Amino acid sequence: MCGIIGYIGSRSCPELIYQGLEKLEYRGYDSAGIAVISSGQITTVKAAGKLARLRPFMGGLPAAAHIGMGHTRWATHGEPSDENAHPHGEAGASVIHNGIIENYKELKLELIAQGVSFKSETDTEVILHLLLAELQKGTSVHMALLKLLPQLQGAFSLGIMNRDEPEALYLVKQGSPLVIGCGKDETFFASDPLPLIPYCQHFLFLEDGEFARITRAGAEVWNFAGVQQEKPAVTMDWDSAAAEKNGFNHYMLKEIHEQPQMFSSTISRHLDLHTNSLILDHLGLDKIDLAQVKRLHFVACGSAYYAALVGKYLMETLPQFPCDVELASEFRYREPFIGPDTLVIAVSQSGETADTLASVKYARAKGCQTLALCNVKFSSIPRECHSAFYMEAGPEIGVASTKAFTSMLLNLYIFSLGLARLRHTLSAEALAQHLSQLKLLPPLAAQALAQDKNIATYALQFLHETHCLFIGRGFSYAIALEGALKLKEISYIHGEGYAGGELKHGPIALIEKSLAVIAVVPRDKLYDKMLANIEEIRARKGRIIAITSGNDPHLAQTCEAVLSCPAIDNPCLQAVLSSMILQQFAYYVALHRGTDVDQPRNLAKSVTVE
Ligand code: M6R
Repeated sequence: MCGIIGYIGSRSCPELIYQGLEKLEYRGYDSAGIAVISSGQITTVKAAGKLARLRPFMGGLPAAAHIGMGHTRWATHGEPSDENAHPHGEAGASVIHNGIIENYKELKLELIAQGVSFKSETDTEVILHLLLAELQKGTSVHMALLKLLPQLQGAFSLGIMNRDEPEALYLVKQGSPLVIGCGKDETFFASDPLPLIPYCQHFLFLEDGEFARITRAGAEVWNFAGVQQEKPAVTMDWDSAAAEKNGFNHYMLKEIHEQPQMFSSTISRHLDLHTNSLILDHLGLDKIDLAQVKRLHFVACGSAYYAALVGKYLMETLPQFPCDVELASEFRYREPFIGPDTLVIAVSQSGETADTLASVKYARAKGCQTLALCNVKFSSIPRECHSAFYMEAGPEIGVASTKAFTSMLLNLYIFSLGLARLRHTLSAEALAQHLSQLKLLPPLAAQALAQDKNIATYALQFLHETHCLFIGRGFSYAIALEGALKLKEISYIHGEGYAGGELKHGPIALIEKSLAVIAVVPRDKLYDKMLANIEEIRARKGRIIAITSGNDPHLAQTCEAVLSCPAIDNPCLQAVLSSMILQQFAYYVALHRGTDVDQPRNLAKSVTVE
């Protein structure tokens, strides 16, 4: 959570940093601030609320400054306020922080006992005072860091500015992400490469337990013991236009509309369209000893967890592996029955989710092989895993996951087909049939998007709901869970997802004439079971909105509304299409309710603290 960015070079930096914060705002938007050094002075501006609230104060920064850093906050310690906004600084030094200092209370009490007074309620301010105490003794920042870093517990990516060393910035990485961007006679840092893409292609990724000094000439890196580290640069050639709204009103809508094209490019990466055969090169299996693997264990959070639920169904039916799925936040604190015969697969769009990352470390410590299914290249989770399989969905900026979720489904499907081929659990004919169906997805996805007017119209009738249920069975169970999450995240309407078969075990008590139930009812092998659920809801006067596949005259007669989805005789691909309908439904409900679709309250895109 929180985004940090900094610059040192010859450009005027206040606006550059502000624009970088715009790209990082998806990481947190409770407050923002920028500090620069110019003429031997540190100048800071900050404001509670979204980044735009900082704009009127930007004139307070010297335009000529060419060294500075900025922060956009997701509040952990202390409410969103001007005082708690970063950077935190006295005249001599300034600090920005992403993470949590877990032992800040003890440190704060010690500092107060020494006579230090605090201006904010943040955990970050203890770092500032520990640093200032050293600098006041004449210690260099480098030596001060070697002394104070071992005192800090928790997660902390830091940017540090010292008035007496105005041609350098110091960076620290422990637990939260940090990347250095190397330009020509200029150096940047940020929480992720996205805001740096317009300026540089070469990046240094710091590891946990490292700190760096950057100047316009580049970076020097040490570990916390003071031993200098060699850092090879990696090259990334992302298209910076991919991170723009490109004419859409919201990133979320743009990302929903990118799906047909994204599916096409995923399919052509993994499928030889001429021979209708699977390409195994990009599945991340080269570094996995498959002969050792007896079972799979998915770990993930949020939407990625729901995608992994679909993954379990796929892995059990196609490559026929025993497979578990677990919330990373539970897995990391259990004693799961795993070992060298388990392949732990971490699913994460950002590759930075703290619980998922900790789960990978835990699995490695238990001797498991680990594989990341991630979107953001070189992020922490793939770097921590033995191997990585990249989704290549392009940047996802909207806080509510859309294209990354369906990309996870598609990539898990392709991955399971790859495993099935290697394990000989699918006949050549069956595999060929799966591959032929895959090719149908992009045009059907485009048809799903063409439903948007109907969906937007129905969404108008849904505006004043306060709570609702989502139900589905089989693959559609995970889609019901994801549909409920999407609606609640961005519209703030309470939605709960249930397996259809669970209705009678409790939730049916909620059914009455005002309750809306969104039923995901494709024409699959569980269709009749879902019809039985629908009848039970109707018998209790509940209202039903059905997400169908193709035309369904029966449901059209029995339900309050039918949102029709293109039909395909493949449960995983049908799940992708149903999910696209629910994404649009959530989007239009939120839009009509006037909520902030791309930056819903209290959320952040990348959950880098637990
Ligand atoms: O980056 P990750 O896929 O690891 O993120 C996991 C969740 O935080 C994420 O899916 C979250 O639930 C989204 N807001 C869902 O829309």
